[in-house]
Amino acid sequence: MTINLALFASGNGSNAQAIIDAVKDKKIKAHIQCIVCDNKHAYVIERARDAGINCIVVSPKEFANRKLWEQHIVNYLLVNQVDLIVLAGFMRIIKDEILGAFPKRIINIHPSMLPAFPGRNGILDAFQAKVKETGVTIHYVDEGIDTGEIIAQESLTVEGCWTLDELEAQIHAIEHRLYPIVIQQVIEDIQDTTQKG
Ligand code: GRF
Repeated sequence: MTINLALFASGNGSNAQAIIDAVKDKKIKAHIQCIVCDNKHAYVIERARDAGINCIVVSPKEFANRKLWEQHIVNYLLVNQVDLIVLAGFMRIIKDEILGAFPKRIINIHPSMLPAFPGRNGILDAFQAKVKETGVTIHYVDEGIDTGEIIAQESLTVEGCWTLDELEAQIHAIEHRLYPIVIQQVIEDIQDTTQKG
């Protein structure tokens, strides 16, 4: 059974690109069915076009309320037979409609060692706190902010001389290597449970 992925992204999309490349190199054995983006100015839209991947741009602002926005996305994902949602720099909180339609089928990458520094600015918050260790977390998504069950973490020792940009570069390098590996593991878990079930 081929697993269909939907990547959700809001900005640059460097993680989405790492996933696109890993699928191309068969390190992730799945099909990227679509990219869902909530920001019409996001560079990830260009990345999707270059890779020939269908990209839908839907902002909650275009809908009467958030619930309708989520329902619209769920319908699109179901019609497209998406099995796994991969959040890759998606800057909106996922709520009931999408969570309910994809139980334990949504994963996220966060640029800190959760539970430390959840929220939008994981790298900056760790930098300002002058921590000696930070890292990257990949987790299932639940109703909280970066609170879901942790799947994998990799820590990073912060050198005192690093600038914020240097720390960011180190974190992104880990993300781009770790996310494809973990996505492939999650895919294999889904395939195992589907076969057994
Ligand atoms: C990454 O640091 C990711 O951990 C966080 O948002 C950032 C997205 O970067 N959730 P990009 O758009 O993938 O380049």
